[in-house]
Amino acid sequence: MTETAAGTDWQAWQLSWDRQQEWYMPDREERFRVMLDMVEAVVGPEPRVLDLACGTGSITDRLLKRFPAATSTGVDLDPALLAIARGTFAGDDRVTFVRADLKDAGWTARLPHDSYDAVLTATALHWLHSEPLAALYGQLAAVVRDGGVFMNADHMIDPATPRINAAERAHRHAAMERAKEGGAVDWAAWWELAARDPELAGPTAERFEIYGEHADGDTPSAEWHARTLRAAGFAEARAVWSSPSDSLVLALK
Ligand SMILES: C[S@@+](CC[C@H](N)C(=O)[O-])C[C@H]1O[C@@H](n2cnc3c(N)ncnc32)[C@H](O)[C@@H]1O
Repeated sequence: MTETAAGTDWQAWQLSWDRQQEWYMPDREERFRVMLDMVEAVVGPEPRVLDLACGTGSITDRLLKRFPAATSTGVDLDPALLAIARGTFAGDDRVTFVRADLKDAGWTARLPHDSYDAVLTATALHWLHSEPLAALYGQLAAVVRDGGVFMNADHMIDPATPRINAAERAHRHAAMERAKEGGAVDWAAWWELAARDPELAGPTAERFEIYGEHADGDTPSAEWHARTLRAAGFAEARAVWSSPSDSLVLALK
């Protein structure tokens, strides 16, 4: 990655993160678009947002480009991805980042606000097993204001359709292999690049101590997410978008 006289090129890292994630999810921008459509539909164009497990802040980036009067708090545990996020949004007083482990009982006490219009997350909660995820949903029900919204876009698997799931997975992975032959950078290769960057080498070593390659978690169905969100205190919940492998589940407080 390029280094300039002013230091690491955070924007270039941001873009390379997006390309790497798009290798797994070619429809990633489409789900961000639908997510923001539903933010606008439910809480309007000036929301106070919590970007949950924000990584480099991809949701915050799309949010502020589309709704300049929005504000965002990004929460994540990964010091390397947070370094990219902080570098990218440096000087933007609409954005705050908080380092916290979503599995810690007291993580919400670190937030700068007691409640949010919208809590948004993508490609992250499958890093948690179902039990801690259900506990997290209970905490989120207390953080989303009445009338506010929670949305989770992630890989969600219906256990009732194993043959469909297997066919879809094989088809998706074949396309990923073709993209890799064309030069796409996968997760492991991306982290090797980060480990060679002078600014990111330290935080990258730290994130591997925390997570290893990747935390283990579950990928329950969209129906499980909706049911668990209703049990946690949300009034309504259902999928508002789906691809053959992923869903965007919306819960209204
Ligand atoms: C694949 S990345 C997605 C990041 C971002 N939402 C995006 O769409 O680009 C998954 C993120 O979840 C975060 N994460 C996973 N488990 C977490 C936990 N227990 N606490 C805080 N963040 C966590 C990881 O650090 C990582 O940044």
